[in-house]
Amino acid sequence: MALISVFIETYGCQMNLNDTEIVKSIMTASGASVASELAMANVILLNTCSVRYNAEERILNRIDFLHHFLKKQKRNAVIGIIGCMAERLKGKLFELSDFVSIVVGPDEYRKLPEITSNALKGSKDIAVELSKTETYSDILPLRKSGFSAWLSIMRGCNNFCSYCIVPYTRGRERSRDTTSILKEIDYLVANNFKEVTLLGQNVNSYSFNDTTFPKLLETIAIRAPKMRIRFITSHPRDMSDELIETIAKYDNVCNYVHLALQSGSDRILKEMNRRYTAEHFLDLVTKLREAVPNCAISTDIIAGYPTETEEDHKDTLHLMQKIRFDSAFMFKYSPREGTKAAKINDNIPEEEKIRRLNEVINLQNNISREKNALEVGKIVEILVENPSRKNTDDWVGRTDTNKVVIFNNKNKKYQEGDFLNLKINKSTSATLFGETIEE
Ligand code: SAH
Ligand code: SF4
Ligand code: F3S
Repeated sequence: MALISVFIETYGCQMNLNDTEIVKSIMTASGASVASELAMANVILLNTCSVRYNAEERILNRIDFLHHFLKKQKRNAVIGIIGCMAERLKGKLFELSDFVSIVVGPDEYRKLPEITSNALKGSKDIAVELSKTETYSDILPLRKSGFSAWLSIMRGCNNFCSYCIVPYTRGRERSRDTTSILKEIDYLVANNFKEVTLLGQNVNSYSFNDTTFPKLLETIAIRAPKMRIRFITSHPRDMSDELIETIAKYDNVCNYVHLALQSGSDRILKEMNRRYTAEHFLDLVTKLREAVPNCAISTDIIAGYPTETEEDHKDTLHLMQKIRFDSAFMFKYSPREGTKAAKINDNIPEEEKIRRLNEVINLQNNISREKNALEVGKIVEILVENPSRKNTDDWVGRTDTNKVVIFNNKNKKYQEGDFLNLKINKSTSATLFGETIEE
């Protein structure tokens, strides 16, 4: 049997990042090695995302690039598509590209050792069954970073927001066994991890036997008192008072919540099947800020949803002005085949979508700039991450409110995973700049 050396590229959300670590773990347990460079691998897997058209287009271009790259290098390596695009497009991927020989969906990763080994012998194989129970709870992800960990506490989604492909690519919602989560937390503590991010499409609906999400969060906060604990993402409809109290009560639960608004118009929210109103969202933010005064809130916004009027769009801008999110991920609506929204006429012209999106982005940039400027002069604690891409003397860290801070670390006094106090002396809409405080 040919020795397998696998290289995995990851696209999409944090769940995919964690899944890649799970796949690496499954592959190495079967005797394969993980290649550190593309050019050293005989199996190349792309862990893909389907959430918007652009995400998929990028992968199709990447497959072509990889094919040419391999040809030029005269290398024989097989290319596999795993993750959400594999699940959505299934066997069609073989038709879309001759260079794909493996298609494996998010619930079938245990089959990868066999499928990759068959592919190296020349066969094409597909596994795209969704599962009601698979959570990979017994698999310890093969993590790269030694200080910050992703940890999936549930998989799938049952919300069926009208525009969203995730319930189709990830299947039904299921919560992971609490005992296995706590076992992994103990492992992270024992291995000196400094931060864990609990992952799920809607962590608020975590439920295993009698354990709800606030209970799980509390148990973890007590069990890992020195670790920063984050979670993403929460659905605004079922974010409970108990969860807000838990964030307030435990210092190591980060003062940061991602709460996707999508739209500020009640009519559009209803069309989107989000099942909350603008007023409910605003109340939630008020409650959260009362209980956790320093809490940073980020959001997602979709511009140009079908039938969105100028007035609906203005409602979104007004609500954003009222709430003043710390940051936001902003997208123009992208129809996804098979979703409910894709059946409605995508009637907003492209230029109009772009104009609305730009208005949303400009507004949020101004708010983020103003909010970040309020941090100047403050002393904040950061967790040191890595050198910045632009200048390796500058290093990047993050506050517990999830703000990125750049500081000079020319003498490499601080290492990744260190906690460090900085005085903020400058800010932009996306970044804070800090200096170390002389002791
Ligand atoms: N489960 C998360 C969202 C995961 S998808 C949550 O509900 O918070 C991340 C974001 O992508 C969504 O919040 C939404 O803003 C955006 N998105 C999803 N489908 C989209 C589509 N068809 N077009 C544009 N943006 C989309
Ligand atoms: Fe998609 Fe809605 Fe589920 Fe989030 S909650 S993954 S937006 S269906
Ligand atoms: Fe994309 Fe799948 Fe995540 S569609 S956003 S990778 S769950």
